[in-house]
Amino acid sequence: MQPAPALLTSFLLLPLLIPGKSQARDYALSIEDQENQALEVNQRLESRNPRTTASLYENPAFNLLYLELEAVQELAAQLKTKGGLSGTADLLHQLQGQVTNASLALKLLAESDLRSSRALQQEVEVLDGRLSECELEKEREQASRYPRPPLAPGSCAHGGLQKVSRPLVLKLNWRGFSHKAGAWGRDSAPNPPSSLYWVAPLRADGRYFDLYQLHKSYNDLVLLKHYEQWKMGYGDGSGNTVYKNFMYFNYYGTNDMAKVDLSSNTLVLRRPLPGATYNNRFSYAGVPWTDLDFAGDEKGLWVLYATEESKGNLVVSRLNDSTLEVEQTWLTSQYKPALSGAFMACGVLYALRSLSTRQEEIFYAFDTSTGQERRLSILLDKMLETLHGINYCPWDHKLYVYNDGFLMTYDLTFLMLPRPPVKKPSGVQAPLEPIMPNKP
Ligand SMILES: *[C@@H]1O[C@H](CO)[C@@H](O)[C@H](O)[C@H]1NC(C)=O
Ligand SMILES: *[C@@H]1O[C@H](CO)[C@@H](O)[C@H](O)[C@H]1NC(C)=O
Repeated sequence: MQPAPALLTSFLLLPLLIPGKSQARDYALSIEDQENQALEVNQRLESRNPRTTASLYENPAFNLLYLELEAVQELAAQLKTKGGLSGTADLLHQLQGQVTNASLALKLLAESDLRSSRALQQEVEVLDGRLSECELEKEREQASRYPRPPLAPGSCAHGGLQKVSRPLVLKLNWRGFSHKAGAWGRDSAPNPPSSLYWVAPLRADGRYFDLYQLHKSYNDLVLLKHYEQWKMGYGDGSGNTVYKNFMYFNYYGTNDMAKVDLSSNTLVLRRPLPGATYNNRFSYAGVPWTDLDFAGDEKGLWVLYATEESKGNLVVSRLNDSTLEVEQTWLTSQYKPALSGAFMACGVLYALRSLSTRQEEIFYAFDTSTGQERRLSILLDKMLETLHGINYCPWDHKLYVYNDGFLMTYDLTFLMLPRPPVKKPSGVQAPLEPIMPNKP
């Protein structure tokens, strides 16, 4: 432990770096893995700003709380700068004061080396909960003064993807830091039967899908309340998706598609995907074992994969979601192992590649309604290096991304059509450009 003034100074000077917030409770649950966590926290802090590592507490629980407080402060600052909210500004100001007090309390706790940080954890949780209320309030206010009607849920009355927001980091997955691979999201049917949220962190080996949790609402997810936890063994990789209350995944060690009824956690169907390679033959770059990547959108249920015939290039098939029969298949020009991931929206495949440890690019689109492909460049910031499961939800037009163990969302903005919706297929507004194959 260093002298108090130095610690205090470095603490106060620390930049607020985590763009979002998460729950202290997760950290408490995963304290079993303390050494790993301490290591990872060290790495996280280090990767952000080497100068800050001097202020690390020896106890990993303090470090976790510390990151937690940083995230809450950041969120409060973000909310404040977006500002202009008469109702919530005072509350935010007050919350910021409380967060600062909590930070000082944490410092005192660390210094006096108290074993229990439970009380502080509870305080952080309460603050976190109140901030997420503020956030929802802000969303409601923004929605109500939106200059033009936003895209209706499940609607394809637009000209294709235009931009992606900064990520909102919700929280760490419930199994902890060591579960870096996984997927999460909402039902990706255009008119989903419920507001269910699902979270499926893979085992720590990054291969097997065995457990998942279901939450009935966003608040339940954020506060980790009222969840159901199910065991389903096993799947390979993080290509899971949920469509019309069924979860689809790659049955481990095979090219079988598996379908699980989420209302009873029963495997209702298993069926091979003809020609699909498996066992990590052509997975995405940096995301092993994702041979079969399921996707749902306004137009149906899809599976993204590669075959020997396609020479590893990405193949898109639309599935009959009741029988899992392939209805139609399209070949793309993109080598699947050169992509970092992909998703479908309104029948258009969007493929991503990594530009750096902090940025991804949606660089390629393939429209299944016209068979045409095009280049685009839409950048996505990320908090950590690898985006695992990427799932699109047509209901709220968000991407649900599992970023090395953290649950994130991005808002998607689509090109508005100049006139009211006509019966043109999506994607036709953007000019076509020649395609160069994406070489690794
Ligand atoms: C922070 O702590 C000080 C001293 O205990 C207290 O007077 C103040 O009201 C607290 N601020 C908030 C916002 O809770
Ligand atoms: C899916 O297959 C079933 C059984 O063959 C058929 O009745 C149903 O119409 C198909 N669904 C679609 C959307 O084609």
